[in-house]
Amino acid sequence: MSPRIDKVGVVGGGLMGAGIAEVCARAGLDTVVCEADAVAARAARERVALSLERAVQRGKLDRISAEDALNRLVFTGSLDDLADRRLVIEAVVENADAKTEIFAALDKIVEDPEAILATNTSSIPVMRLGMATQRADHVLGLHFFNPVPVLPLVEIVTSLHTTPQVADTVQEFVTRALGKTVVRSQDRAGFVVNALLIPYLLAAIRMAESGFATPTDVDSGMELGCAHPMGPLKLADLIGLDTVAAIAESLYEEFKEPLYAPPPLLQRMVEAGLLGRKSGRGFHHYDPH
Ligand code: CAA
Repeated sequence: MSPRIDKVGVVGGGLMGAGIAEVCARAGLDTVVCEADAVAARAARERVALSLERAVQRGKLDRISAEDALNRLVFTGSLDDLADRRLVIEAVVENADAKTEIFAALDKIVEDPEAILATNTSSIPVMRLGMATQRADHVLGLHFFNPVPVLPLVEIVTSLHTTPQVADTVQEFVTRALGKTVVRSQDRAGFVVNALLIPYLLAAIRMAESGFATPTDVDSGMELGCAHPMGPLKLADLIGLDTVAAIAESLYEEFKEPLYAPPPLLQRMVEAGLLGRKSGRGFHHYDPH
């Protein structure tokens, strides 16, 4: 009988963290979201509230359930508030040093030695984060997809130290409690989806960079010609160009294949603060909401 995961913590309340927290709260779970400080915690709450409102407007959720989900969530600026959690999912910026620091801290704070520490990283080796703790056997990757309330997939990534029972417990939690579908991946940068997706997005960026086709035509090509819900440059804007660049760097560092190397245009856009939908401009322009 696998231990019940009834208390969940999420570290980071950005695009992914807020989405993961929303899905947990909508599943009826006691969920604590930790941000860097009280101001960021308030912004994370706003992000979840906005998405819940969108779900209500789209007829996916009734208003009472949306209010219940929001009330079930606690937002904090202190990692210490995660002490009693049975599963903590880290979803901070895609930076190995930042994530390593959080795993080392969580290992000391989360009291139950059987509690599981998961990372939503897209590309950083799970092993590196596990080795920052004294419980690498209870550390794994739990990779959600954006927008988290909409997309049904979660990748579960085990490192060489993760015990199989821990992965099985988390898989049961993800499928039964969260209602998502799992694919398993080994601990290689990019896992299954990003190892395939990122070279495609980078190829589209190179196409726009060289003047081969305009961003609008690149996107229309894949939307109308291949029935993708959004073209690659719109998708890169949705993911965030800083995140796309960070994943590409990790893939390139791991495999040293030119197809993973971030193109100069992507680097310049990140330096310019043109990060896609979240900054209002990337390959396309966006309204604030
Ligand atoms: N909660 C619940 N459901 C919601 C919702 C919310 N907050 N917002 C939207 N929805 C639902 C809508 O009700 C709708 O459902 P139906 O189709 O059943 O009616 C569906 O989601 C689509 O929503 P919209 O009609 O409002 O929007 P859309 O048709 O323009 O689709 C999109 C938007 C879902 C983002 C779609 O374009 C899409 O799926 N794009 C591809 C996204 C993708 O590939 N994401 C993966 C990124 S990679 C990643 O995340 C991993 C990484 O590490 C980088």
